[in-house]
Amino acid sequence: KPRVLSGIQPTGIPHIGNYLGAIKNWVQLQDQFDDVLYTIVDLHALTVPNDPKTLRENIYKMAASLLACGIDTNKSILFQQSQVPHHTDLAWLLGCICTLPRLQHLPQWKEKSKTSENPGIGLFTYPILQAADILIYRATHVPVGEDQIHHLELTRDLAKIFNNKFNFNFPRPKDIMGEGPRIKSLRNPSAKMSKSDVNPKNSIPGISYDPESRPGISNLLQIHAAFTNETVENVCEQCKSLNKVQYKTKLSDIIVESLGPIRQETERLLSDRHNLDTILGKGKEKAAIITENTWKEVQKSVGLL
Ligand code: TYM
Repeated sequence: KPRVLSGIQPTGIPHIGNYLGAIKNWVQLQDQFDDVLYTIVDLHALTVPNDPKTLRENIYKMAASLLACGIDTNKSILFQQSQVPHHTDLAWLLGCICTLPRLQHLPQWKEKSKTSENPGIGLFTYPILQAADILIYRATHVPVGEDQIHHLELTRDLAKIFNNKFNFNFPRPKDIMGEGPRIKSLRNPSAKMSKSDVNPKNSIPGISYDPESRPGISNLLQIHAAFTNETVENVCEQCKSLNKVQYKTKLSDIIVESLGPIRQETERLLSDRHNLDTILGKGKEKAAIITENTWKEVQKSVGLL
């Protein structure tokens, strides 16, 4: 039976990349599948330094943002990862069948371990917990942005190894890539949204789409098309007579206009913490029930029970 699951780290208010790459798609999937779960992955957020007050605040902010974007708890289950214990239980078992080199080769580890000074083991085993998030629900479809593809491959591999070793029946989850583009940094469009200082000036005037030679403007055109639900070609045609400053002003107006109502709704939801607690509490109850069943079967297969 099809089941959708996805997760997002509580890093405060989501950025345009999260919105276009994932959340917009999450909202639509609620109407296409009967069984949908979305989780705020607070345990994953702990793989990098996080002070308790900020983390707690960010969990609320993410919950409010997701609801404001259109995650509807009548159509999907929204919950906080750490509140459902069997994610980490299964992660341990998966860690016992995952080899060191398999994790060492993951691009995100290679990148992140370079930038953080003394990375903890959690940062290294992060993808195993992600696999557990998915497999504990026997999810079949996982909507993610392009940067998560390797983690989904690992999840499928671990499912296969586990199934063979313990004669189990985890489905091999498919990634669903939304139509959303991979949003690049506005400063340094050769990188994913991040904080780089390089600010290459481009001397080609006007507006045209060419991701190779004009990555900056092309990134903006992709963001534009995603916000107005048009093709990049269409957007380009409409804006070709504008200069860059005029174009950026136009695009920022479009974004402010689309996100304005979401922002207001987020603020409104954030002003009632008790309501957010209730929503996440109910989500946790529903999610936990699903995991109980899988966890029991897993334990029997492994020989723990
Ligand atoms: P996270 O929190 O980094 O990002 C959440 C989602 O947003 C997408 N995304 C982007 N898409 C397009 N352009 C960008 N610049 C961009 N930045 C982020 C991500 O692909 C993701 O879909 N490991 C995951 C969280 C996770 C998870 C899971 C996901 C934990 N367990 C189980 C799916 C299933 C992460 O760090 O996402």
